[in-house]
Amino acid sequence: MTILITGGLGFIASHAAASLLESNQELVLLDNLCNSQESVHQKLEKLTDRKFPFYRGDVRDKKLLRKIFSDHSITAVMHFAGLKSVAESVKDPLLYFDNNVGGTITLLEVMQELGVYQFIFSSSATVYGVPEYLPYDESHPTKPINPYGQSKLQVEAILKDLAASDSRWAIACLRYFNPVGAHPSHLIGELPNDQPNNLMPFMMQVAAKQRPFLTVFGNDYETADGTGERDYIHVMDLAEGHEKALALIQKTPGMHIINLGTGKPHSVLELVRTFEKVTGESIPMQIGKRRDGDLPVYYASADKAKDVLQWQATRTLADMCLSSWQFQLQHLSS
Ligand code: NAD
Ligand code: UD1
Repeated sequence: MTILITGGLGFIASHAAASLLESNQELVLLDNLCNSQESVHQKLEKLTDRKFPFYRGDVRDKKLLRKIFSDHSITAVMHFAGLKSVAESVKDPLLYFDNNVGGTITLLEVMQELGVYQFIFSSSATVYGVPEYLPYDESHPTKPINPYGQSKLQVEAILKDLAASDSRWAIACLRYFNPVGAHPSHLIGELPNDQPNNLMPFMMQVAAKQRPFLTVFGNDYETADGTGERDYIHVMDLAEGHEKALALIQKTPGMHIINLGTGKPHSVLELVRTFEKVTGESIPMQIGKRRDGDLPVYYASADKAKDVLQWQATRTLADMCLSSWQFQLQHLSS
C-alpha cells in the first residue's frame, strides 16, 4: 500500500510525509518545485532514515501521473499541490483555476481510470468567507472572497459530486486554519521561494535581520488588542490530522469535510510577544494600514475533528514560535 503525496516537498506536505514515514507508510512524492526545493527530499530521507521515490513534475501532466501509478501500487492520494497566494490569485485568477482546479481534475481522472478511490484534499478555512458567526463550523455558509478561496470551494464541489456518483470514493476535505511551526528535527519547515505574505514566515525574516521590521496590518479592529486574530495550528498537529483522516476514509467511504484548527484565536501582538519571550529575539514593529481582504478574526470549531477523527491539536503557541525559529536558525547555518 503506497500513498502518493502531491506537492510533497512543500511546507505542509513535507511534514505530513515525515509523520507518515515515521508510521512506516510507503510514500511516493510528486512536486514541480514551483514553491519548494528538491533538497527537502534528502532532508526527509535523513530525518526519517527511510528512502522513498520523488518525481519532479506537474499534477496537470497526465502522462507522468499514469507512469507514477503504474510504477507503484498506489492506494491513496494526499493532494497538497496548489498555489496559495491570495494576492496573486486576484491578479491572475486563471493561473489559480488552472493549477488548483484543473490540476485536481487531471489527478482525479487518472485515479478513476486506474481504480484508486481514496483521496485527501488540502482545503482551507478561506472557503467560509466573512463570518456569519464564530467559530466557523463545517456547516457555516461558504462564500469565499477571492479567487484562491473560490478555487478551493470549486474543488470541494467536484469532490462532493464525485463521491455521490460512485460509492467507492472515500474523500476527506480538510479545511486548514493557519499552519505554522516546524518539525522537531528542524531540518524541514516553511521556506517560501518568494517574499512571504503570511505572518510567521515574515516575522522569521525580521528576527533573522533580513528585514528591518514587521508591519502590523491594522491595530484598530474590534478585537482585544486591536490586531487581527487567527487560529494558528502547529504543522505537526496538522500532519497527524492527515494520518487520522486516512484511517477514517479507509473505514468509512463517502465525503467528509473537516476543519483542522485548534479552536483558539490569537492576535498578531500575542504571536509576536510569545515569539519574543520564547526565543529572546526582538521583533521591531510598525503599525500599518489594514491589508485589503483581511478579516478581523476567524477561528475553527474543532468539535467535528475531535468526534470524527479522534484528533485534536496539542501543541501550544510557544511550541509553534520556538520550532519555527529553530528551523530558521538551522536553515541559516546550513
Ligand atoms: P506550499 O507552497 O509550501 O506547498 C505546495 C507545494 O505544491 C509546493 O511544493 C509547490 O511546488 C507544489 N505545487 C504547486 N502546484 C503544483 C503542480 N501543479 N504540480 C506539482 N506540484 C505543485 O504550500 P503549503 O502551505 O504547504 O500548502 C499546501 C496545500 O495546503 C495547498 O494546496 C494550500 O492551498 C493548502 N492550504 C495551505 C494553507 C497555509 O496557510 N499554508 C492554509 C490552507 C490551505
Ligand atoms: C492569509 C490569506 C488566507 C489564507 C491564509 C493561510 C489573505 C487576505 N488571506 O490569511 O486566504 O488561507 O493566509 O495561507 O491573504 N499580518 C500582519 N503583518 C504581516 C502579515 C500578516 O500584521 O506582515 C497579520 C494579518 O493581518 C492577519 C494575521 O497577521 O491578521 C495573519 O495573517 P496571515 O498569516 O497572512 O494569514 P491570514 O490573514 O489568516
